[in-house]
Amino acid sequence: MDSENALSSSRLVVPNLPVSKRVGSLLRSMEYFVQNPPNGERDDIESAFYSAVLDQQHARPDFGELIQDFVAARPELTTTHTRYLLRSSFQKIAVRQHADYPEGFNQTKWKNIISSYLDDSSIKNEIVSDLHNRHLQTNIKDRYKSLPVIIGWMRANKRIGHEVNILDFGSSRNHGLKHLSLMDKISGVRFSDTVVVEPISESPAGSQDTLVNERHTAAFNHHQNMPVNLRVGLGIDKESIDDPTNAEWARANLTHREFKEHKVDEYDLLDIMPVSQNVRFQQYDLLDADQSKFFEVSPDDQGGFDIVSMFTMLNQMSETDRHRFLRLARRYADPMGVVVVQDFARVNQDLSTDIEFLDADWNKGFSHRTIVLDMLKPVKYQEAFLYATGRCDKVQIAVGETAVKLVAGGNTAAVNLAEFLDVTSV
Ligand SMILES: C[S@@+](CC[C@H](N)C(=O)[O-])C[C@H]1O[C@@H](n2cnc3c(N)ncnc32)[C@H](O)[C@@H]1O
Repeated sequence: MDSENALSSSRLVVPNLPVSKRVGSLLRSMEYFVQNPPNGERDDIESAFYSAVLDQQHARPDFGELIQDFVAARPELTTTHTRYLLRSSFQKIAVRQHADYPEGFNQTKWKNIISSYLDDSSIKNEIVSDLHNRHLQTNIKDRYKSLPVIIGWMRANKRIGHEVNILDFGSSRNHGLKHLSLMDKISGVRFSDTVVVEPISESPAGSQDTLVNERHTAAFNHHQNMPVNLRVGLGIDKESIDDPTNAEWARANLTHREFKEHKVDEYDLLDIMPVSQNVRFQQYDLLDADQSKFFEVSPDDQGGFDIVSMFTMLNQMSETDRHRFLRLARRYADPMGVVVVQDFARVNQDLSTDIEFLDADWNKGFSHRTIVLDMLKPVKYQEAFLYATGRCDKVQIAVGETAVKLVAGGNTAAVNLAEFLDVTSV
C-alpha cells in the first residue's frame, strides 16, 4: 500500500484493528508528512518533529514502547488524531520551556528535545498522562463565524427576535461564545474576513483556483461582523475553564505554524478578556449518565435554545457517543431553532438523516463543514458552509444544491444566500 492509500485508509476508525497495525499506520502517516510537509514548506517544523519522532522511536526502545502503549490505550482515535496528540503533548513542554518557540526547531533540535524529555521522568510521565487522557482541545475563534450568519438567516425568517440563546457543547475555553459576545463591544477583537468562492465540485484540488464571489463574500462578512445580542450563551465542556493546566493544554493544540505566525497572541488576548456577562461556562461531562447535574441548561423562557452547536467535537468520539450527543442536542433545541454541527464530516449522500464523519485533517481542502438541522424539519441534515481547513479561514457556501436547501429552509426555491438573507444591497 503506498502512502496515499495508507493515509486514506486512516479515514475510518476500524474497531479491533491490532495495535501493531495502528502503530504502523501512525508511523506511515508521519513518513508521509516528512516527505510532503503539510501546507508545503510553510510547515517544515511539523515535518521536522515527525522526522525526529521516527528517528527516536528506532533509536530508543522506551520511546517505541511509549508509542505502542499510547496507541493501545486509545482505540477510539484515528491515525490523524493520534499523530496530533503526539505533537501537542511534546509541543506543550517545548512551549513552556522555550519563550521563542518554534524558532530553530529543526529536526536535530527536536531529536535532542525528545530524548531529553524521555530522560526526565517527571516530564515523561506528564507526556504519557496527556497521551492517555487528553482530547484534542483547540478553540480557534474563527470556527464560530458561521454562527452570526446563521443568526442572520434565522432573523430574516422571524425565527428569533433581537436576542438569541446559544448552547455550545464541547466549548473548550469558551472562546467562541466569548468572541461572539465581544463583537458588539469596542474590543477590537473581530473575526478575520472570509472569502466566499463560487460553488464548485467536491474536488479539493479544484478549490485552489476557484472564483471569489464578491457579492456573497460581502454578504458573509457583513453578517459575521454584525453584533450578536446574546441573551444566554452557555458553553459546556468536561474540562474546567479555571484549571491552568487545561488552558496550557488547549494552547499547546495550536499548530506550529500558528505559533510561528503569532496567532497565539490573539488566542492569549481572548483568554484574558473578562467573560461577557451573558456568556457562561458549565463544567459537565455530556456522557455522564446522571443528567441531573446538567441543571443549568434551560434558558429563562419556556422554549429551548435557538441554536445548539457542536464544533469540531463529534469527530473525536466513537460512533455510539456521537449519536448520544446528537440526540442530546435535539433535546435542548427550541422547536423553531437549529442544531449546528461543524466538523470534518458530510451529510450522507444516500441518507440525509445521517452524518458521515471524515478524517480530521486540518490541512486538507474543504473537508470541514457546517451542517444544520432545522428543528422545523428535523428529519434532514443540510450542509451550509464548507471551510478550506479546520481553522476556517476560507469558506464556500456549500456544494451546489445544498446551499439552496439551507437558504430555503425546507422550501426548495432557488435563492442564493445573499438574497435569502435579504442583504442584496451590501
Ligand atoms: C477540539 S475541541 C473543540 C472546541 C471548540 N468547540 C472549537 O471548535 O473550537 C473538543 C472539545 O470537546 C470536549 N469534550 C470531549 N468530550 C466531552 C464530553 N463528554 N463532555 C463535554 N465536553 C467534551 C473536549 O474537552 C474539548 O474541549
